[in-house]
Amino acid sequence: MKAGAAPPGAREPQQVADWVRRMFARIAPRYDLLNHLLSFGLDWLWRRRVARRVRPWLLRPDARVLDLCCGTGDLLRALELETERVGAAALLAGCDFCHPMLILARPKLRRAYLIEADALQLPLPPSSFDLLTVAFGFRNLANYRAGLAEMRRVLRPGGAAAILEFSQPTGRLLAPLYRWYATRMLPCIGGWISGHPDAYRYLPESVHRFPTPEELACWMREEGFSRVAFESMSGGIVCLHVGVV
Ligand SMILES: C[S@@+](CC[C@H](N)C(=O)[O-])C[C@H]1O[C@@H](n2cnc3c(N)ncnc32)[C@H](O)[C@@H]1O
Repeated sequence: MKAGAAPPGAREPQQVADWVRRMFARIAPRYDLLNHLLSFGLDWLWRRRVARRVRPWLLRPDARVLDLCCGTGDLLRALELETERVGAAALLAGCDFCHPMLILARPKLRRAYLIEADALQLPLPPSSFDLLTVAFGFRNLANYRAGLAEMRRVLRPGGAAAILEFSQPTGRLLAPLYRWYATRMLPCIGGWISGHPDAYRYLPESVHRFPTPEELACWMREEGFSRVAFESMSGGIVCLHVGVV
């Protein structure tokens, strides 16, 4: 069953949340370096693509935008740059439940607000945002359906959710190469540099367990999103889903 994250030894939603929060707290100091290194810098392009794709919602009058699981703030920074580029006056905020990640995000950001909160229980009123984004955080939620329902709750009518997540390439050459890289190289390099091999073993396992793009699109529709579409990037290594409420 692929209903939510399942780190080793954690069954109940609270155990999953605690495991995930502790893991990110441990790897926070090396998180950015490893992100850029392990993705060969592609992570910058992926986040920039998200920022471009959501431009129509950034340009809404009085737009309010929340980046869930914002971590060290790289997608929020890409959203700040995009709003500057297109002259949008959107209010930007980020949310994460891991304090050390938020501490690292703060100096990178010019004007975005930061909130320390659980994406599954946002301390925010219904219908308060035009756009929700989440990059590489959704996969870590204890319950994907509950995550989608919470996103839908805080979105205004016509608002959109954009979910960027790792996927599994299907190309004949890329698929085995990527599998080898993700299961052999990535835990080695990530474990060595961060000092926490368990975190970088969890990464490919969680990607493997994550729903396929078609399944996630189907769940988004079932949770009340319309105009659901997804696009694969970099041969299917990552996938961006967008849905509107
Ligand atoms: C892989 S990092 C992604 C960070 C950032 N979005 C990026 O693109 O680099 C995942 C982040 O999600 C956060 N996270 C995971 N589950 C969460 C939850 N239930 N509520 C809030 N944050 C969560 C973690 O603390 C971590 O900072």
